[in-house]
Amino acid sequence: MKRDFLSVRDFTQEEILESFELARDMKKDRMKYNDSLKGQTLALIFEKPSLRTRTTFDVGIQQLGGYSLYLSPNEISLGKRESVYDVAKNLERMVQGIMIRTFAHQIVEDMAKHARIPIINGLTDLLHPCQAMADYLTILEHKGKLDNSIKVVYVGDGNNVAHSLMYAGARLGVNVTVSTPRGFEPNAIVWKNAVEDAQTKGAKIEIVHDPIEAVKDADVIYTDVWASMGQESETEKRKQIFHPYQVNSKLMSYAKPDAIFMHCLPAHRGDEVTDEVIDSPQSVVFDEAENRLHAQKAIMYKLMK
Ligand code: CP
Ligand code: NVA
Repeated sequence: MKRDFLSVRDFTQEEILESFELARDMKKDRMKYNDSLKGQTLALIFEKPSLRTRTTFDVGIQQLGGYSLYLSPNEISLGKRESVYDVAKNLERMVQGIMIRTFAHQIVEDMAKHARIPIINGLTDLLHPCQAMADYLTILEHKGKLDNSIKVVYVGDGNNVAHSLMYAGARLGVNVTVSTPRGFEPNAIVWKNAVEDAQTKGAKIEIVHDPIEAVKDADVIYTDVWASMGQESETEKRKQIFHPYQVNSKLMSYAKPDAIFMHCLPAHRGDEVTDEVIDSPQSVVFDEAENRLHAQKAIMYKLMK
């Protein structure tokens, strides 16, 4: 049976940890697995811009012996020029896997339902699971463990990145606190799923609106842009609302002294994070960006090998 990676919840805790082991091995020697996806092609469908996702999938599949095919918004226009069903039915005969970055999460669900080849979610309005895999791989590298002695605090908008961070934390048994302005909390269904999952692992997922209160005892402080792709028209309004949630040196001082700072990038320096924090020794943002490559190579290997 083919498998997809649309959400972190498509993998069990054991599978996530196994893929981290594999990713770490791949990281030691980038050519060690260079025959594993020999001759396979991964289509990369992008309906939104990207630096990291595009580069790491492109380079990653090549390092595994395969090829990538970039399909821009102009070429496909999913659901407009052609239905998602028809795109799926064409591509499954031409390539061996599809990565999609799009708007509505339903599009990746539909693609996975109709295509007989693995579908990987490269970001939707709801979730960013590949990001969360790279994030927890980075936390494992810096903190040496992933369990309920670790507290991850996400400060900012309750968006796709926050959702996947909660899902992965819950699955791995890591505590996740989310600190958002009122009205910008995570999606209610994602929230319910994450809380239930965390309970079975002895971990806690909570919302604390006061950012100073939230970051107390944090091992990891994480933020993301205040206006995601597709929300550009709300940028100015959101700047006013989110200002108290800026991650600056003062906010970092309320966390543990050895807390690390994380951001999926791209960052809007001076808005959600100051230069002082993102350029500080506590910041691991470029380790995190690099780990997109290793984490996704492991995901492709697991789905396409
Ligand atoms: N973090 C992330 O997904 O970056 P890109 O939007 O550049 O792919
Ligand atoms: N929340 C951001 C993440 C970008 C990687 C967005 O969706 O634009």
